[in-house]
Amino acid sequence: ENGKLNVAIDGPAGAGKSTVARRVASKLSYVYVDTGAMYRAVTYYMLRHEIKPEEVDTVLAHVRKLDIELIPAEGGQKVFLNGEEVSGPIRSREVTGVVSLYSQIEDLRHHLVEMQRKMALRKGVVMDGRDIGTTVLPDAEVKIFMTASVRERALRRFKELDKTEEVTLDQLEREIAARDKLDQEREVSPLRQAEDAFVLDTTSMSIDEVVEHIVTRCMEVRGEVGL
Ligand code: CDP
Ligand code: CDP
Repeated sequence: ENGKLNVAIDGPAGAGKSTVARRVASKLSYVYVDTGAMYRAVTYYMLRHEIKPEEVDTVLAHVRKLDIELIPAEGGQKVFLNGEEVSGPIRSREVTGVVSLYSQIEDLRHHLVEMQRKMALRKGVVMDGRDIGTTVLPDAEVKIFMTASVRERALRRFKELDKTEEVTLDQLEREIAARDKLDQEREVSPLRQAEDAFVLDTTSMSIDEVVEHIVTRCMEVRGEVGL
């Protein structure tokens, strides 16, 4: 027993999960695991090999042989696919546009969930995604469901864009809403708030406030658990 907890952070796109999870992990000297990056890495691979999400058997045959590595790095994590760094390309709008179609595939999810559970075995992990509190780590000691209005989330993503990308705020908002809908309505481990999750609406909260909130909760729980 190393006295560490597991922290599960779920919520829709642009709620601030990865930014906050990374900082919470750094403050607690925990390991940050971005599960969205795993779904994105798979999607990037499938696009590159022109394998469509409908070709379920082909997707699965490839996924079982894929080597996906998340390496903790300064300011976050690096993502490697069969030894090649893909941290940048997996964030493209092309990948973002279709990742929710691949992430509906049941056996693909089972495969990635197994990997994610292994990463959290030794505790001291801050993991963010859609199904962490409900499916991946139902026993996580701290569960946060982070939300914000869809407009605010679109605005946050809009500010991140480099100026070469021609997309309007309204368009981004529509894309985010469509992805949320797919993630919420899929049959296998949809985006859903765990019953025992603490809900944080970050619409008018700063990043620091959100981080403080979660770190405080972790401290409290650590005290309660008596570690
Ligand atoms: O950062 P952003 O919110 O845009 O997305 P992400 O966390 O990188 O996740 C990308 C996509 O992966 C989501 O829209 C989901 O379709 C899928 N995903 C999932 O199904 N389950 C997870 N635990 C994490 C991501
Ligand atoms: O991981 P997720 O998709 O939930 O969101 P993110 O990529 O961590 O955050 C999206 C953007 O919102 C980032 O550029 C953050 O700096 C920003 N953000 C914010 O402005 N205020 C917050 N309370 C949280 C995040």
